Amino acid sequence: MHMRKKKWARPELAACPFYTNGGEEYRNTWRSRFPEPEHPLHLEMGCGKGVSTAAMVKDNPGINFVACDMSPDVLGVARRNMAGDSGEDPRNIQLVRTDICFISRLFGPEDGAERIYIHFPNPWTEHPKHAKRRLTHPRQLMQYREMLKPGGEIWFKTDDDTLFQDSLVYFDLCGFETVYLTHDLHAAGFKPNYISEHEAKFTAQGIPIKAGIFRMKEAGPDFDPTRYRLTPGVRAKALERLDRETERK
Ligand SMILES: C[S@@+](CC[C@H](N)C(=O)[O-])C[C@H]1O[C@@H](n2cnc3c(N)ncnc32)[C@H](O)[C@@H]1O
Repeated sequence: MHMRKKKWARPELAACPFYTNGGEEYRNTWRSRFPEPEHPLHLEMGCGKGVSTAAMVKDNPGINFVACDMSPDVLGVARRNMAGDSGEDPRNIQLVRTDICFISRLFGPEDGAERIYIHFPNPWTEHPKHAKRRLTHPRQLMQYREMLKPGGEIWFKTDDDTLFQDSLVYFDLCGFETVYLTHDLHAAGFKPNYISEHEAKFTAQGIPIKAGIFRMKEAGPDFDPTRYRLTPGVRAKALERLDRETERK
């Protein structure tokens, strides 16, 4: 996502009590950064302007959220959205500027998140070599495994068919079971559904929203899925098998 530089974003973030640039020093202690550390912890990867995050934060005071993005310009807008919805110092959100490619430097096993949201990540479909930059690539999913509680979930939404299909294979490879799947989230009427900036944009274009909930199985893969090459043949076979398994459920 390319966005014009916002002069006000950095100074506002620097003065913001719920914003951290980096934050690796808080690894394994994120829960204690909230007034109610015993509440469930939900992480968001690539929150963008935080349109849906702000609504989730407001509606769910019993959940602690950490929303991550790399762009200070979008985080500046996210900060304003949070402050607008929940006041200048909301109790249950931390905004973090970080590169999610290295997310295991930020969160560790002691953080034990119940849930991770990945909403409308960049699809990286132009060149097969770019696939490893996806926020659902095995390189990422294997890092998320380290910071999720046993049985923790990843909630994923996208407009992009190729990213969605590939991600189904990635989740399977990395030891996640599918607990919910739809190729048209709005028609399915899933609730609660917090609509993000990109979700609104794609929906207005008539593109159905693909979504899934994936639960971490106790046993991880017994091989290194980050080295796995998702060739068209491998992908087709994996998707056929996943279809058969879904039908059996
Ligand atoms: C297409 S936008 C989606 C934003 C929002 N989730 C939504 O649904 O409207 C993708 C966001 O992910 C962020 N992003 C992409 N790769 C990232 C990375 N490696 N680390 C941190 N943020 C990243 C971008 O800065 C951007 O804000």
